[in-house]
Amino acid sequence: MSELGIRVVRIAEFAWSRMEPAAGRFDWAWLDEAIAVLAGAGLKLVLGTPTAAPPHWLIAQHPEILPWDAHGRPKTFGSRRHYSFSSEPFYEASRRIVSALARRYGAHDALIAWQIDNEYGCHDTALSYDPAALRGFRAWLAHRYGTVHALNDAWGTVFWSAEYATFDDVGFPVGMPAQINPIHALDFRRFTSDEVCRYNRMQVDILRELSPGKPVFTNFMSQFTEFDHHTLARDVDLAAWDSYPLGALERQPAVSDADRRRYMRTGHPDLAAFTHDLMRNLGRGRFWVMEQQAGPVNWAYNNPVPAAGMVRTWTWEAFAHGAEVVSYFRWRQVPYAQEQMHSGLLAPDDRIEPGGIEAGRVARELASLPDVPPPAARVALVFDYETKWMTDLQRHGAGFDYMSLCFRWYGALRRLGLDVDIIGPGHSFDGHALVVVPSLTSVDAGFVAQLEASGAHAVFGPRCGSKTREFAIPPGLPPAELARLVPMRTLRVDSTPPDHVEDVVDASGNKVGVCRHWRDIVEPLAETKVVCRFTDGAPVLLEHGRFRVIAGDVEDTLLAAWLRAAVDAAGIPVTPVTDGLRLSSRGPLRFAINYGPGRATVPAPAGARFLIGGPVLEPCDVAAWQ
Ligand code: GAL
Repeated sequence: MSELGIRVVRIAEFAWSRMEPAAGRFDWAWLDEAIAVLAGAGLKLVLGTPTAAPPHWLIAQHPEILPWDAHGRPKTFGSRRHYSFSSEPFYEASRRIVSALARRYGAHDALIAWQIDNEYGCHDTALSYDPAALRGFRAWLAHRYGTVHALNDAWGTVFWSAEYATFDDVGFPVGMPAQINPIHALDFRRFTSDEVCRYNRMQVDILRELSPGKPVFTNFMSQFTEFDHHTLARDVDLAAWDSYPLGALERQPAVSDADRRRYMRTGHPDLAAFTHDLMRNLGRGRFWVMEQQAGPVNWAYNNPVPAAGMVRTWTWEAFAHGAEVVSYFRWRQVPYAQEQMHSGLLAPDDRIEPGGIEAGRVARELASLPDVPPPAARVALVFDYETKWMTDLQRHGAGFDYMSLCFRWYGALRRLGLDVDIIGPGHSFDGHALVVVPSLTSVDAGFVAQLEASGAHAVFGPRCGSKTREFAIPPGLPPAELARLVPMRTLRVDSTPPDHVEDVVDASGNKVGVCRHWRDIVEPLAETKVVCRFTDGAPVLLEHGRFRVIAGDVEDTLLAAWLRAAVDAAGIPVTPVTDGLRLSSRGPLRFAINYGPGRATVPAPAGARFLIGGPVLEPCDVAAWQ
């Protein structure tokens, strides 16, 4: 590893059955030895707490630890993530193993950070329908609403005679013959998210106490939304995530089939970048990639070999977006068990794989990189987990997909050569000249006041302010508080099949583009100006001072033009790029990455000094200049 230039290695994240072979009996000899070997070679360590893989003896003792599926069947032992976030015996066992691990290694010189658990919620394991979760959900509701009367009121249970006499009458939002009350389902998601955060906090507290000064984090996933990462991230020291650009491309509905084919071996140019930009902000400027795809994976529908050069380029892209560490998954391919078809930097026979050679090359190249600050984006995109849950729970139109919307708005900005911060609705807008909000189901007064005070320009997309926190239509109609920035009312909504388009025309009646899937049919109020309309006269682009609303899911070309106009109005310089070329900046350094199939010329000014590559970029290549 050290010959290859690797400096940090993460270990032990699933090794519970070896650390604690029987309840309360610990065996550290093997881990002592591994740590001594690694530290002896000068490697720094990230230790994983092994709680994503509870051992068999623990499950045999406490079968109630197992999570249950929505049909009320316990999941079984033999893979991983087989625990309910609400299980008290699991808390107890977790406290014991995490404390023991922290006591043993918490002060080790080579230890530079703790990874807590592994990929919370992976394999659909955030939600569990076990008895402990049900007890927890009821207690959570009692805490939120105080009285069951208040719950009935907030949930509107008078509708269809669903009134509850006690909190213990409330069940899981599953298995009902007709539609589930959306607030019931939303509260269950909020509860689940809080449970993940509560469990994580328990480990954070132990590690901070027993291993002071060592940063703690957990590894997040790409485009994963089953718990609110903005909330969880407040409890950790940095954000880390696992980047599998090809696996993610295969499974990402936001990517068109044409792009899926085109970027089959490179990954989509905006897919990893989106998560890097989210993670940097979750980590308040600090993020790591804990697992970087190093070759073909085993878990997607198809698992192609990455194009030559991409392992290096993905690594550079992470650094270009501000990553402090990029660690590969995995060191050596394991020839047995579940992940035998998952590649590593080394093959099962220890031969170095192309990904390993590329990782070594980046390590050498990185030496030429001066110390640079993380990107300082002037544009922020607001990404909200509750909006994802609410629009999933009440799609209302099959084609309305919040993730795709965010991804397309982000892509339009990236094609202008812009750095983008992806932030939560509670985040400050300091330093941002433009804030874009692809959708935000509940817009509260605080958000509006902060945006107003920030001086930033803003663009809002469809369905903003469409619901209260109790998942009801706001009194006075949507967009509720947002009408303070752009006076208007949403009279009704129009969701249409994907093959239907609505034309959009400018003030002179000329067609400027089309809209699909969704229209908010709005009425402008007061001084709000209508810039463009649908052909039936309904406004689609509205403007009021620094604020704009796009009242529909407009197609990419039109979206790009309107976002460009907002970027210009905010006074942010752009460098439009075409095809698969993307740009990023860190301090004085500018990076270009070529995801496209052809050679590209980078937009470096005359006299630029290249640290990596040069002005002409081959496919799958990266350049950095000053
Ligand atoms: C991640 C996980 C790793 C490994 C990897 C395979 O989900 O954290 O343990 O399973 O994926 O790509």
